[in-house]
Amino acid sequence: MGDTRAHKKFRSQEWFDNPNNPGMTALYVERYQNQEYTRDELQGERPVIGIAQTGSDLAPCNKIHVFLKERVKAGIRDAGGIPMEFPVHPIQETGKRPTAALDRNLAYLGLVEVLYGYPIDGVVLTTGCDKTTPAMLMGAVTVDLPAIALNGGPMLDGWWKGKRAGSGTIVWESRRLLAEGKIDYDEFMNRVCASAPSLGHCNSMGTASTMNAMAEALGMTLPGSSAIPAPFRERMAMAYETGRRIVEMVYEDLKPSDVLSRQSFENAIVVNSAIGGSTNAPPHLQAVARHAGIDLHVTDWQKIGFEVPLLVNMQPAGEYLGESFFRAGGVPAVMGELRKAGYIREDAMTVAGKPMRETLANWESQDTEVIKTCAEPLREKAGFLVLSGNLFDSALMKTCVISEDFRQRYLSEPGKENIFEARAVVFEGPEDYHDRLNDPALEIDDRTILFIRNVGCVGYPGSAEVVNMQPPDALLREGVTHLPTVGDGRQSGTSESPSILNASPESVVGGGLALLQTGDRVRLDLNRSTMDALVDDGEWEARRAAWTPPEIKNYTPWQEIYRANVGQLAEGGCLELATAYQRVARNLPRD
Ligand code: FES
Ligand code: MG
Repeated sequence: MGDTRAHKKFRSQEWFDNPNNPGMTALYVERYQNQEYTRDELQGERPVIGIAQTGSDLAPCNKIHVFLKERVKAGIRDAGGIPMEFPVHPIQETGKRPTAALDRNLAYLGLVEVLYGYPIDGVVLTTGCDKTTPAMLMGAVTVDLPAIALNGGPMLDGWWKGKRAGSGTIVWESRRLLAEGKIDYDEFMNRVCASAPSLGHCNSMGTASTMNAMAEALGMTLPGSSAIPAPFRERMAMAYETGRRIVEMVYEDLKPSDVLSRQSFENAIVVNSAIGGSTNAPPHLQAVARHAGIDLHVTDWQKIGFEVPLLVNMQPAGEYLGESFFRAGGVPAVMGELRKAGYIREDAMTVAGKPMRETLANWESQDTEVIKTCAEPLREKAGFLVLSGNLFDSALMKTCVISEDFRQRYLSEPGKENIFEARAVVFEGPEDYHDRLNDPALEIDDRTILFIRNVGCVGYPGSAEVVNMQPPDALLREGVTHLPTVGDGRQSGTSESPSILNASPESVVGGGLALLQTGDRVRLDLNRSTMDALVDDGEWEARRAAWTPPEIKNYTPWQEIYRANVGQLAEGGCLELATAYQRVARNLPRD
């Protein structure tokens, strides 16, 4: 890199206005000006703003961005920037097999390469469907150019026969009704389709709404951005304001490394408890933190988040959906209520260039039926417990979904509060579960815990959302609608099952779950945050010595690359080698 480069105001000028290398500069300019840009613009000391487009026909949850980007571009141009939209590898939760989780790291890699290798000075990250948000944030922190997230927003509320039909939640309910023989296939289809009435992502507090709330709690969106339903006029206005703001951020050189701190992540953990957020948030935030070089550990979720009350009355934890959440004030109102109770780290920065203290001033719930106050929450202690024991080093549990009925059925002995015991039934994956669930030989009763393994990052691959298994049909007909479930995969953010999930290390890499057998007794001790198989040490070690890893088959080159490099869910399920690359925009690529 020659000295003459040092004076350049914007990174993009290294491409578009470099008299030291006229050959390459001309090539860059002639081809970009053959579309909507002029040479004057490209060489006029104006920041180039990338729009990372996650929407497409294959990615309907984010499709709104295909239209919103016009407002983003207008904002960028009005503020003096040059917008350049580019495609992101699609990540559609309800489209991609074997799981969209496999593609989070792939989209991340693609985004890093684009931001690093092209003439981009700042970027608008379009987010929405579950993994699109962490993928975009992971890429942005790795490159560390000025970046701002813009959510596409949830769909309008779904309705079925006069009742709110939330994304995902209606699926679990209808699946039970179908298994019980109360509805047929056609009604099943109609019920579920009723939950998706417009463009946008899931309208319940599933992983999408959770992760967009996380982006806002981290300070990576404009205040009030994440909850606006996709078709609302406020959504278009927010797109425009986001476009304007990213240009200012480039002039201010306000980068993710200036916005994000340990405090930002602590705020996100607190907000996740208060919104009744998804169990997918911990691995995704862990991944963002690791790529940003910020210290975070899975046990922080219990330390910081467990005591925080549930404030948001939204499905699956409550009643309402995205429209009501937005009208009640969305994430700033939740944070405003949390702030009054002292839960918010007020020095944490935001992309607005102000700390949370200023950003949240005057924000509070606009409707306490939907966003409660900390004095009168929907539930106390809404966070996750982080369990450990001989089955895994860590696994997450949402204790607030444990019903009184469960407490009675699984109690180890009278008087031993919070200590539960049960017989384990183990499935080797979702196919095995579907094949054998209704087999009477398994003797599944209302005191059984269902286990599923081989469904983690390496095993599945990508870690599948299959831990929320439903009971056998016979039990459902008897009115047992939930059994506790445990697994090394994940579960849908819209599920309300009492599950223990994200078990790390996963069984295919030799985690304790691999050694469990159907018929073993297991003990869950919520006082000590432990779960153990009640198998004596000698027997356990003998099983370990006899264990051989299951055969793993890859069907695409990416599956092989992913499996060879991915870490465990507790560590974010990152490509481990990628975490060594931080703030890569500090170095200009060779010309
Ligand atoms: Fe895309 Fe829920 S499936 S947001
Ligand atoms: Mg999901």
